[in-house]
Amino acid sequence: MTTHSWLFVPADSEKKLSKTHNLSARAFILDLEDSVALANKAVARQRAADFLRQSGVPRERLWIRVNPLDGPYVEEDLAAVMPAAPGGIVLPKARSPQDVEELSGRLERLEDEHGIEPGSTLILPIVTETPGALFSLGGYAACGPRLAGLTWGAEDLGSAIGATATRDLGGEWTPPFRLVRNLCLFAAHAAGVPAIDTVFVNFADFAELDDECDEARRDGFGGKLAIHPAQVDIINRAFRPSEEELERARKIVDLFKAHPDAAVLEFEGAMVDLPHLKQAQTILDL
Ligand code: COA
Ligand code: MG
Repeated sequence: MTTHSWLFVPADSEKKLSKTHNLSARAFILDLEDSVALANKAVARQRAADFLRQSGVPRERLWIRVNPLDGPYVEEDLAAVMPAAPGGIVLPKARSPQDVEELSGRLERLEDEHGIEPGSTLILPIVTETPGALFSLGGYAACGPRLAGLTWGAEDLGSAIGATATRDLGGEWTPPFRLVRNLCLFAAHAAGVPAIDTVFVNFADFAELDDECDEARRDGFGGKLAIHPAQVDIINRAFRPSEEELERARKIVDLFKAHPDAAVLEFEGAMVDLPHLKQAQTILDL
């Protein structure tokens, strides 16, 4: 079954790597970037590569977050993990679609070098972590089939612009960060890939996480990043359609089947037309 949570696991932590067993995350993102101190980068690379080889988790669920393309660590990151064939690379602080294309070129060479199927290493960029990145969000459609989705982040962007907070006292995103979330959502759909919502850092607050997942799914996100094992099932559950929704979607699809020549119909006292049919089909596909 498809699940919708992408769990970050700091790759320098043997203990956390060992805690991934039996978690039904869509993917584990073994992190080499912000959750790993400089002094631990080398050991994190080694542990990530070992985990890729030894965990027994299918390749498509094993992802690596490398360091940013414009920094000094990414080359060694890729050199360490690519021989072990991760399913995908999470690219932080992507500045534009060109960064994804640049990474794609590097992956192509490394796949060739290590006998990995060409094009089989996917890319999930984090597209809102620098202010400049917001102005090329419309261009990710050009990135080609490695692009697996788009995701966003608030914390690095907040610090880049000197914001003192990204959420208000009630826990809601402040307007600038709400805007950025929404831009990521549309950018992903413009590129024809899933939008993956950012992390919820208060990992002990399950009710708030649940609400945030419901909002994300309502708005058209297809999944959410996680930072703690306890978030995985909550996210998976929230992104699955409820029985009620499935029932309603089935009824709408059946209604159009019964009226093959109609483009607009009445359903439970309201108008339904082709966008509603498409939406119902999407829910059933989930
Ligand atoms: N992946 C795997 N295991 C994890 C984990 C994760 N992301 N986060 C916590 N665990 C493990 C802990 O090691 C702990 O194991 P234990 O019961 O054997 O001690 C267990 O799950 C429960 O964790 P808990 O004690 O509730 O949290 P913590 O204080 O150990 O860790 C964080 C809290 C936030 C430091 C931790 O969740 C974490 O490192 N998250 C990922 C951070 C990250 O990757 N950030 C970058 C993206 S924003
Ligand atoms: Mg970061």
